[in-house]
Amino acid sequence: MWHLEVVKDVLSASLELPTLVFTVLLAISACMWLLSLVGAIDVEIDASDGLLDDALEPLDITDVPATILITVFSLAGWFVSVLASIFLLGAPRSDGDSAGPISVIGAIGLGIGAAVVALGFVMWLSPRLALIFVTTTAPSKRELLGRIAETRAALTGDEPSVPIFLKVAPDVDVTQIDRIVEQARTYGMNAIIVSNTTLDRPETLQGEHCGEGGGLSGQPLFEKSTKILAEFFDAADGKIDLIGVGGIGSGAQAYAKIRAGAKAVQLYSALVYKGPQLVAEICADLEARAKADGFKNIGDAVGTALDTA
Ligand SMILES: Cc1cc2nc3c(=O)[nH]c(=O)nc-3n(C[C@H](O)[C@H](O)[C@H](O)COP(=O)(O)O)c2cc1C
Repeated sequence: MWHLEVVKDVLSASLELPTLVFTVLLAISACMWLLSLVGAIDVEIDASDGLLDDALEPLDITDVPATILITVFSLAGWFVSVLASIFLLGAPRSDGDSAGPISVIGAIGLGIGAAVVALGFVMWLSPRLALIFVTTTAPSKRELLGRIAETRAALTGDEPSVPIFLKVAPDVDVTQIDRIVEQARTYGMNAIIVSNTTLDRPETLQGEHCGEGGGLSGQPLFEKSTKILAEFFDAADGKIDLIGVGGIGSGAQAYAKIRAGAKAVQLYSALVYKGPQLVAEICADLEARAKADGFKNIGDAVGTALDTA
C-alpha cells in the first residue's frame, strides 16, 4: 500500500533532524492551543506586547496573535522540511530505499532553508490575517502609547505638552522593565507611575475576603510595589521620572518610596482610612526625615536607597 509507505516516510522524517525541530515547535503550538482551550492562556497573545516584539517589529508581522504566528511558522516549516528531506536529500526511509541519512551540513542547510520559506509564508499571510484580527483584538500597548502621543500632539500642537504618565502593575515581568522604560520614553510619556494594584494574594493576608479576586491595594502592596519601583529607577537611569504609589500610609513609607526612586508619591487607600490630614502629616514627616539624614531638601533623597543598599 503506497500511501502507508508515504505515512511511514513522513513519520520517520518528522523524527529526524532538521524536521524534528519543526515537529517540536508544532507540539509546543499544540500545547498552547490546548492550554487556551482550557482557559489557562489567552490565544490572542499579541506578538507586539510580548517577548517576540523586538524580533517581529522589523518584519511588520506584529498585528496577529503570537499563538497563530508560531503555529503557521511551525506548520509551514515542518511541511517544507518533510518534503525536502524525503525528496531532495533522501532522509532515511521506512522502505530502506534511501540515499542514506542526511549529512550534518545538509540538515543545517535544509533547516535554515525551511525556516526562511516558513518565515516568508508567515510574512505573506500575516497582513491577510491582520484584516481579521484588526477588528477583534485590542490595540497593543505600544500602539496605544503611539495613539496617545499622536492625540496629544494634535491637541496641543506647539503649546507646552500636557503631561502624560504611564502606570504599570507591580506584577509586571521584571525582564520587561527595560523595554517598558524605553517605550515610555519613545512615546514621550512624562513619567511612569509605579504602581497600580496587584493581582497577588500575599500569604500574610487574613480576613474573610482575602481570597477575593481583583486588584489588591494598601499595606499588603507596599513592599512589592516599592521593590518594583527600585527596579524601574535602576532601568530609567534618570532618563524618565517615576511616581511612587502602593501602600503609602505614613511619612516613613512615603520616604521609602522617594529613596527607592520616586520623584513624587500618590496616596489612595490610606486616604480612605486616615483622611486628608494624612497629607500634611506626611509632608511634615518627610521634611524631618530629609533633615535628619542630612539632605538639603527632599529632592536630594530621590533614589538614595540604592546608595545604601
Ligand atoms: C477602588 C480602587 C479604584 C482604583 N481605580 C483606579 C483608576 O481608575 N485608575 C488608576 O490608575 N488607578 C486606580 N486605582 C489604583 C490606585 O490609584 C493605586 O495605584 C493603588 O490603589 C495603589 O495605591 P494604594 O496602595 O495607596 O491604594 C484604584 C484603586 C482602588 C483601590
